[in-house]
Amino acid sequence: MNDKYYVGYATVHKLVRTLADRLVASGYNPDVIVAIGSGGFIPARIVKTYINRPIYAVGISYYGIDQTHLDHPQKIQWIDEAQQHLRGKKVLLIDEVDDTRATLSYCVRELLSHEPEEIAVLVLHNKLKEKDDQFPPEITRYFAGLDIPDVWIKYPWDAIDIDEHEHCERKMLKGNTI
Ligand code: G4P
Ligand code: MG
Repeated sequence: MNDKYYVGYATVHKLVRTLADRLVASGYNPDVIVAIGSGGFIPARIVKTYINRPIYAVGISYYGIDQTHLDHPQKIQWIDEAQQHLRGKKVLLIDEVDDTRATLSYCVRELLSHEPEEIAVLVLHNKLKEKDDQFPPEITRYFAGLDIPDVWIKYPWDAIDIDEHEHCERKMLKGNTI
């Protein structure tokens, strides 16, 4: 496999559709979606196409202004009146990638402090690697669109030239080197 893994918009959309089907088949019926920005925003919006629920946005940063790692992830944006929105609710937490799991686990713990009934985690991609943090035992539902090796994923929303990006994805899927 190449060291970069290209993912186009249509691929994202189809992954989300499969994930939404699995979510529905599992019987989990969330009341609200919480999207972790910024990578989780577009996937969350597509999930809303299949399961129409309100989306709340949160922002968590693991980096300081000088782009070095902070000791732990920190909130940079959080849900206003979070308790009112989350207490007793079934939450679907969405991000684009489960990498080190540090940000996701931090976010789960913060959300749990608002006493939701349940939290399920949904990501487009899960990197198969040793994780820096683990989900608390309350998390029993986890949906990953695709398990992939520890390579850098190129998402379409980061592309400067989307035509070039889609071209790279097609070449990669055909098995050619990039
Ligand atoms: P995790 O809990 O979701 O595993 O997050 P972790 O703290 O390990 O990730 C730190 C940042 O690195 C996250 O972005 C995450 O989206 C990004 N990231 C990790 N692996 C990849 C990858 O393969 N491709 C891309 N494009 N991004 C990756 P963030 O700091 O939350 O910022 P944002 O980009 O979501 O705004
Ligand atoms: Mg992210």
